[in-house]
Amino acid sequence: MKLIDYGVREDERKYIEEWAEDNNIEVKIVSDLLTPKTVELANGFDGIVAYQQLPYESSIFDKMNEYGIHVLSLRNVGVDNVPFEALKKNNIRLTNVPSYSPEAIAEYSVTGLMALLRNMKHMIRKVDKHDFKWAPDIGRELNQLTVGVAGTGRIGQAAIKIYEGFGAKVIAFDKYRNEELDKKGMYVDTLDELLKESDVVTLHLPSLGIGNTVINSSTISEMKDNAIVVNTGRGDLVNTADLFEGVASGKLYGAVLDVYENEVGVFNENLMDQDLGDKLLENMIKSPRIIVTPHIAFYTTKAVKNMATISLNSMVEELKSGKSATEIDLNK
Ligand SMILES: NC(=O)c1ccc[n+]([C@@H]2O[C@H](COP(=O)([O-])OP(=O)(O)OC[C@H]3O[C@@H](n4cnc5c(N)ncnc54)[C@H](O)[C@@H]3O)[C@@H](O)[C@H]2O)c1
Repeated sequence: MKLIDYGVREDERKYIEEWAEDNNIEVKIVSDLLTPKTVELANGFDGIVAYQQLPYESSIFDKMNEYGIHVLSLRNVGVDNVPFEALKKNNIRLTNVPSYSPEAIAEYSVTGLMALLRNMKHMIRKVDKHDFKWAPDIGRELNQLTVGVAGTGRIGQAAIKIYEGFGAKVIAFDKYRNEELDKKGMYVDTLDELLKESDVVTLHLPSLGIGNTVINSSTISEMKDNAIVVNTGRGDLVNTADLFEGVASGKLYGAVLDVYENEVGVFNENLMDQDLGDKLLENMIKSPRIIVTPHIAFYTTKAVKNMATISLNSMVEELKSGKSATEIDLNK
């Protein structure tokens, strides 16, 4: 069996090499993304593994079919950049990595929140300039706050455990309730209720589709004064311009955003000294009360190793048995 792994970052390489050695399977590592041109490198291989945020172009799959390759295994969870029709036309199966470390994302969202509650961004900037004054950066304590968790799937549940450990009051909303959390009486009945009652709203939902934002000017006006929004879910859950206005006007205390609706082409790029061409992003970066990070909540050694190895294991399962536990239903 010969596999080819595309879009491999340096930090992923060693996990792929270790896996190849442990499993005695040849894996060619390519740093280029999978494109209609680079797919030519896959001729002669049995399966393609990849990860990229840019769209996978349909003609890639015509070539895969031509080369007799019928499985694409992704190292990530999201499949919205894959054209299912082109896969179906070429009889190609797709796998993803649905869960690589919910704790990584949960821990990160709490880290961001704690940093904001203690005004870390502003304090670090002040200390950089040798301003060691305390005021006005007085902190707030998590154990005094009500945290509203929107989405109690894998990541939301991991986050709840941490928030409970800090002694915060936790309330939650999900369209499908988790039995144990329900027994604890943690759920409110509507998202509106969650937004109205929370000092911190933390989003652990998938994208709800274009224009379906959870945080926007109308919902912000219903939220508590001085509330905080934490988003490690998906950028399009938030109307970012409205959120910025909510913070700038003083209605909201601040926000932690690890995802952003216009992040593709910016996050995980080094654009040092370049004009971003995005005033909103630049204003958020300047704001002492908005912490922006480039989609790094998942970025831990454990998660990166799991993404690299689970995708390869799925590929082997597919090639040996024609199916795998992480195969995506292309008809959904
Ligand atoms: N920032 C990062 O690095 C990073 C990494 C991984 C995942 N994520 C994002 O985190 C989010 C959550 O991931 P997860 O693994 O916990 O997913 P999950 O599928 O386990 O949980 C999502 C939860 O949302 C609920 N839900 C879906 N639609 C809803 C709606 N309309 N109203 C109420 N509840 C709804 C589901 O019932 C489910 O319980 C995803 O958006 C994912 O893309 C971010």
